[in-house]
Amino acid sequence: MSSPLHDVRPTFELTGRNYIVTGGAQGIGFTISRAICEMGGNVSIWDIQNEPVDKKEFDALSSKFGSKTLYIQTDVTKQESLEAAFQKTLDTFKTIDGCVPAAGIAIDKPFVDQTWEEFTRIQEINVRGTFFTAQMVAKELLKQKKRGSILLIASQSAHIALPGYRMAAYNASKGGVMMLAKVLGVELAPHGIRVNTISPGFVDSDMTRTVREAKASKREGEQMWLAPPNQRLSTQNDLTGAAIYFLSDASMHTTAADIAITGGLHAGTIDGLISYEK
Ligand SMILES: NC(=O)c1ccc[n+]([C@@H]2O[C@H](COP(=O)([O-])OP(=O)(O)OC[C@H]3O[C@@H](n4cnc5c(N)ncnc54)[C@H](O)[C@@H]3O)[C@@H](O)[C@H]2O)c1
Repeated sequence: MSSPLHDVRPTFELTGRNYIVTGGAQGIGFTISRAICEMGGNVSIWDIQNEPVDKKEFDALSSKFGSKTLYIQTDVTKQESLEAAFQKTLDTFKTIDGCVPAAGIAIDKPFVDQTWEEFTRIQEINVRGTFFTAQMVAKELLKQKKRGSILLIASQSAHIALPGYRMAAYNASKGGVMMLAKVLGVELAPHGIRVNTISPGFVDSDMTRTVREAKASKREGEQMWLAPPNQRLSTQNDLTGAAIYFLSDASMHTTAADIAITGGLHAGTIDGLISYEK
């Protein structure tokens, strides 16, 4: 006997749900925050910057989509800062439905030149910040006996060594994030808390612009759009469909899963050509 059929469209709605997005002052975090609002959700953005980079666009979210929005200056590497942001968010929203810890940094440097301090900074933001943001949300969901969805931001760097780039500490951090989602997906599943990842490819952002522009060889920099089988740089918009899928009831039975949004690069490259300058 098969189950009765349901409409698909309403399962993507986030109406009245409350989410935390770290690193949402700009880039991927802001784009996902905007998508959450568009789908009816409310969002609390935590970022180390004192205000959203495009303040006008952030301020417009509530009037445009009828969402509640909060912006809290937060350093995800500091326990007190994270806890204060969480308390402020709860004071306003009362309940929580999930989070997207998107704060992250990357350094492109040969493995042998990466320093203790650089490695530590990357792990503190990308892994520890993600770990404890997810932990606070999971604790609250357990306390409130609510279902929830935690979406972590891994990377194609959790799947492959990037053509043209040398990012060992970053790869290690994103491998950690992807494994964290798998283990939490399993551990929290009996409580109705789902944990998944998206693995973006080379996305046009401040992060990739800085890394690309620091290249001595233009050809190496251009691997961002030469190497992916789709032959273009990703945009932040390429990520929103998967993000909403994972946060919403559309993915009710999906946990410990990853969607790679790389234009195919996580599976390999045919036309990517690298000419290192000697
Ligand atoms: N851009 C890409 O190609 C790409 C690819 C794969 C994964 N990602 C991941 O996506 C996420 C977002 O990246 P992005 O490209 O939008 O980068 P971005 O640099 O545009 O945004 C990162 C945000 O994190 C914030 N941040 C940095 N340190 C922080 C801290 N200590 N506390 C709080 N906030 C802090 C920054 O202020 C910034 O707003 C990161 O986790 C990144 O690793 C990016």
